[in-house]
Amino acid sequence: MNLILSLSSLARPLLARLDPELAHTLTVRSLSFFHSSPALVDDDPRLQIEALGLRFRNPVGLAAGFDKNAETTEAMLSFGFGFVEAGTVTPKPQPGNPKPRIFRLREDGAVINRLGFNNKGIACAQQRLRAVQGRPGIRGINIGANKDATDRVADYVTGLRELAPLADYVTVNISSPNTPGLRGLQNRAELDQLLGAVMAARASLQRQMPLLVKIAPDLDEQACSDIAALAIDHRIDGLIVSNTTIDRPDTLQGTHRGETGGLSGRPLFRKSTEVLRSMRRLTKGKLVLIGVGGISSGEDAWAKIRAGASLVQLYTALTYEGPALVTRIKRELLTCLERDRIPTLQDAVGLDA
Ligand SMILES: Cc1cc2nc3c(=O)[nH]c(=O)nc-3n(C[C@H](O)[C@H](O)[C@H](O)COP(=O)(O)O)c2cc1C
Repeated sequence: MNLILSLSSLARPLLARLDPELAHTLTVRSLSFFHSSPALVDDDPRLQIEALGLRFRNPVGLAAGFDKNAETTEAMLSFGFGFVEAGTVTPKPQPGNPKPRIFRLREDGAVINRLGFNNKGIACAQQRLRAVQGRPGIRGINIGANKDATDRVADYVTGLRELAPLADYVTVNISSPNTPGLRGLQNRAELDQLLGAVMAARASLQRQMPLLVKIAPDLDEQACSDIAALAIDHRIDGLIVSNTTIDRPDTLQGTHRGETGGLSGRPLFRKSTEVLRSMRRLTKGKLVLIGVGGISSGEDAWAKIRAGASLVQLYTALTYEGPALVTRIKRELLTCLERDRIPTLQDAVGLDA
């Protein structure tokens, strides 16, 4: 894997000059050839987190969207991620929105995307996940609804039934801004119905894998409090906070700042961390929280953990910095622990909440 790491750092300057979607496609294609079981590095035991009934060797995960079709889980685990989340997968394959649909805002350390759940569908993801089942490493699957679905709830139920048995946890993604109407599922009545249906579907499965819901950062206090109450009532295991934002902060410099879609990366950090903090307060530690949005250093991950996240995920910073970022974040997290005189990461969860 050291070879792949070195090759990827050599290729990065070239990839950075290509169209972002082409660079991504080439990266995923080359990583998908890496099939061997990940030789998982031994992380420092202080980084270990017990959550969702699973033992994570470190809290740094790959966020959904990088590996839409579960093609690179083994390579990404080998780069040192504590867990990887594949998807979003919809029941049927779909092409997504017209290109171009990914835009780099390099000056801002950000990306705007309006991909629209382009993916190869459940059958393809099943095949990939089956091929790696039982190997070491934690693999989550993120599920969504097709753009043309007449019954969105039914799409989530199908995704859960078909994919959950092949994953360590499942994320119900109701927060992509790129499928019209999808974020409406975060409203009280719709969410109540959706959570009822997916939890009933899970109860009918042989194994009760953890189920999480991924939310948007663009929620007011009332919406956060409704979601927290419903998540607790329905006994959801956790929340992923957050997806991309439709906000465009005034500070953005990149020429593409006016593009439609979800903004991710550094400008999302503050907003997503504030929603995370609210969710920790509203759920009173009853749910596992995964903090995502704008993480590009150990200090960023540390702030999310102290705000209430048991685990963190990232995507955008990886596209700018490459896979060596994972090792750096883990090293910096250990420095934060020592500086703040806290024995283990698990002890730091929610310290500032
Ligand atoms: C190009 C791109 C595609 C994404 N696709 C998905 C997706 O399919 N499903 C999902 O739940 N989140 C998706 N996301 C959101 C990320 O998982 C993450 O929540 C968000 O980017 C914030 O993290 P970051 O600032 O570290 O990128 C995508 C993000 C990007 C940049």
